Amino acid sequence: MSLLLETTGLTRRYAGLVAVDAVNLRVAEGGIHAVIGPNGAGKTTLFNLISGLVTPSAGTIWFGGVDVTRLPPDRRAALGMGRTFQNIRVFGSMTVLENVLTGLHTCDATGLFGVVLRLPGFRRAERAAVSRARAALDLVGLADMAELRAGALSYGDQRRLEIARAMAPEPRLLLLDEPAAGMNPAETVALGALVRRLGSFGATVLLVEHDMGFVMGISDAVTVFNFGRRIFEGPPDVVRREPAVIEAYLGPKVAARLARTSR
Ligand SMILES: Nc1ncnc2c1ncn2[C@@H]1O[C@H](COP(=O)(O)OP(=O)(O)OP(=O)(O)O)[C@@H](O)[C@H]1O
Ligand SMILES: [Mg+2]
Repeated sequence: MSLLLETTGLTRRYAGLVAVDAVNLRVAEGGIHAVIGPNGAGKTTLFNLISGLVTPSAGTIWFGGVDVTRLPPDRRAALGMGRTFQNIRVFGSMTVLENVLTGLHTCDATGLFGVVLRLPGFRRAERAAVSRARAALDLVGLADMAELRAGALSYGDQRRLEIARAMAPEPRLLLLDEPAAGMNPAETVALGALVRRLGSFGATVLLVEHDMGFVMGISDAVTVFNFGRRIFEGPPDVVRREPAVIEAYLGPKVAARLARTSR
C-alpha cells in the first residue's frame, strides 16, 4: 500500500506544554485510520498541523510525496486535503446546497471579474460546482434536502452536511474530528456506514473520535495518543487489548465491552 501522509518529528509547543510531541505518523492510501486518546492528548492540534491551521514548532509533513510543511491551508486543500471540525460549522441561514458550494470556491476558477460579468466560463464553472455539490449531498444521503435551510436540519444531518461540504472537492485525504460527537446511536450507526463509503469516492479517512464502538468497528488502523505522544498503533483488535492503551485511555470497562462486541 502506498503512503499518503507522513509526519516526521512533528511538534507543536505552547507556553509550558507540548501539545504534539515529535510525532511520526504514517497514513496509508485507502482505508480508515483513527487517532484516539484522552482529552487534551493533542489530536485536534495534530489535525490543525496537518491541514495547516497551526504551524509546527519542529518536524515535517509530507502529503502525496510533497513536503507541505510550509504551505498555507488553501494550498494543502488544492493538493487534496479536506477536513471537518470538532465543533459544528454549518451556516444555518443558507440552504443545504449553498453550504456545500462554500466548500468549492467557484470564484477561484474564473476570478472575480468573471463572477461580476457572469462570463460563460463562470457560468460553466458554477454549473459544474452545483453538480459536484449535489453528488456530495447524494453521497451523504441529503440529496432531497438540498433546498432546505441548513439550520432546519437535525443535528445528525448537519454533521453529515459538513462531510458533504468537505467531500465536494473530492479530497484524497479527509480529516474528520469527532464526527459522531453528540449523535444518537442510530445516527452513529448510519455515520459509520457513510464513513466506510467515502473510500469508494477516493478519500482516505483520518478520524478522531471518542466513541470506541464506532472507531473499532470501522477503522483499519488505530494510533493512540497520550500527552502529545504516539504511544501505540495497530489494528483495532490489537489496540483494544494493549495494556498501555487500556491504562492511558480505554479503561478496563470499555476494553471488556469492546471484547464482547467484537468477534
Ligand atoms: N492555541 C492553544 N494555546 C495553548 N494551548 C493549546 C492551544 N491549542 C491546544 N492547546 C493545548 O494543547 C493540548 C492538546 O489540545 P488538543 O485540542 O489538541 O487536544 P485533543 O486531543 O483534541 O482533546 P479533545 O479530545 O478534548 O478534543 C491541550 O492541553 C490544550 O489545552
Ligand atoms: Mg480535539
